[in-house]
Amino acid sequence: MSFSLPTILPGRGARVVALGHYQPSRIVTNAELSSRIDTTDEWIRSRVGVRTRHIAAPEESVTDMATAAAVKALEASGLAASAIDLVTVATCTPVIPLPNVATQVAAALHINAPAAYDINTACSGFSYALATAHHAILAGSARHALVIGAEKLSDWTDWNDRTTCVIFGDGAGAAVVSASDTEGIGPVVWGSDGVQGSTLRVESRDGKIQQDGQKVFRWATSSLAPIAMSACKQAGIEPAELAAFIPHQANVRIVDLIAGKLGLGAAVVARDIIESGNTSSASIPMALSKLTEQRQIPSGAPVLLFGFGGGLTYAGQVIASP
Ligand code: COA
Repeated sequence: MSFSLPTILPGRGARVVALGHYQPSRIVTNAELSSRIDTTDEWIRSRVGVRTRHIAAPEESVTDMATAAAVKALEASGLAASAIDLVTVATCTPVIPLPNVATQVAAALHINAPAAYDINTACSGFSYALATAHHAILAGSARHALVIGAEKLSDWTDWNDRTTCVIFGDGAGAAVVSASDTEGIGPVVWGSDGVQGSTLRVESRDGKIQQDGQKVFRWATSSLAPIAMSACKQAGIEPAELAAFIPHQANVRIVDLIAGKLGLGAAVVARDIIESGNTSSASIPMALSKLTEQRQIPSGAPVLLFGFGGGLTYAGQVIASP
């Protein structure tokens, strides 16, 4: 499939060349949650869409999951770890503030002296991280970047709060992004609405995720479709031409409502939340990696990534599928 994106700098571009994902082996079903708290499989599936979520072991960290996903993306790229000169990890669930996750992933992979930084914009984090890596490559500051979204939300979940614990899961997804003569990543459309930030929050270091679910739902379903459309416009493509739409996997009803407003044609719409729950910044790269692995997206085809959530933040861009 031939598809070209506008170049910002002539002859300079970047492409997502390979993907990988990792999920912990422990699967928690709705039936298991229903045996512990006052909920039902039917309520969770009809209001949120989740059937199962993967939950990390106590000793399994965000860094471990990020590294496991990065190893798979690197293997798929055929590049040696030493070729990577930038590592960025989108996460809102690091265990400790210092050192950051990106330097730890780089150390685990024996990557020599990369630029290494974390990004916390919660559920839009992967699109923010991809945009900053893209910009670094366009500016000549990097040639091969590892862009990762990784979360251990189970650490920040109150497992007795039925309004939140049925939603979230753990996991990581990674992309290798390389310099290219042609552009494979469209302009990012990004922003935030901090005035409404407290609708999704952790109030203290030992606090847990709290949300005003209905406000988040209204914001997501009323404000975001036009922003997703403008990411297509900036890329010079109509939503009807997309091969896939990979929104943040917040809630299957939110995914379907936004997808319904975009005027998609035959695009595959990611619904990995059903199997994986909401994994915040990991949800987009995990869903993209799975759909690519399943050959549901042709190589080179236009795909809209669109993250949104805590902050409140949002970011999206059209990419050419690897
Ligand atoms: N099982 C059973 N009942 C539950 C429940 C659960 N897991 N969680 C809440 N309820 C109950 C509530 O207590 C309430 O009971 P009441 O009527 O007796 O007071 C009832 O269900 C309805 O609650 P409400 O909050 O109005 O439900 P809702 O239809 O708004 O659905 C969410 C709740 C969280 C699923 C929904 O608001 C949502 O998806 N919001 C967006 C959240 C999100 O995507 N967050 C991540 C963004 S990145």
